[in-house]
Amino acid sequence: MRQPYIAGNWKMHKTIAETLSTIMALRKDLDKSGHKVMIAPPFTSLQAAAEALKGSSILLGAQNMAAEEQGAHTGEISVLMLKDAGAGVVILGHSERRSLYKEEDSLINKKVLLALKHALPVILCVGETLTQREQGQVEKVVGEQVEKGLAQVGAENLKMVTIAYEPVWAIGTGKNATPEDADAVHAFIRGLVGKLYSKQAAEDLIIQYGGSVKPDNVKALMSMPNIDGALVGGASLKPETFVPIVEFNK
Ligand code: PGA
Repeated sequence: MRQPYIAGNWKMHKTIAETLSTIMALRKDLDKSGHKVMIAPPFTSLQAAAEALKGSSILLGAQNMAAEEQGAHTGEISVLMLKDAGAGVVILGHSERRSLYKEEDSLINKKVLLALKHALPVILCVGETLTQREQGQVEKVVGEQVEKGLAQVGAENLKMVTIAYEPVWAIGTGKNATPEDADAVHAFIRGLVGKLYSKQAAEDLIIQYGGSVKPDNVKALMSMPNIDGALVGGASLKPETFVPIVEFNK
């Protein structure tokens, strides 16, 4: 049985004070959640968030990471710094990193390998654009992102990897893939991981869906056999919407 894993990506939102008040509100409802829950505030809030999450089962994530351990990389944040600040997960390859900051699969793969080298679990995001979907290229695009993103990741480290399927056209747009369409891509990813690794690795892999997940559509998504969790953007910013998403089965 795969444990449901719901993650909140706060993107470039919330000051330290806002982070702390949101965490206080979330802890009231989610400290005893039977699901795996993660929130990823901006870098500047990580340390304060780590303090505020002491004793909570809510995991702390970062939204990105440099591809190098240290050095002359102005403006970048390293894996060592993330761990030092208290992050226990990192989101890599988010479509906003790919499209706005031109991150390519080879760079994302470098980051994945570096995070795993430092035992920092990863959420690797993949997903096609609307044009790619309309041209019938979903499996080609997503397959390549998965294969290149996981290049040289050993079987023993795959358990530290979660994949988030986020169709780019569904992120922040209010449009979401139908549960059936999303599940078909999840099944494809699982099959591919089965070929690249093993049947057992594919069976154990957590695949989150992301893109306009809301309290009113999460249940249908989570009822699909290959959807094991959600990576939530906009609706993760407020406890009123994030808590019901995490508690989708209550
Ligand atoms: P959204 O974002 O839920 O606001 O669509 C999802 C994401 O970018 O991870």
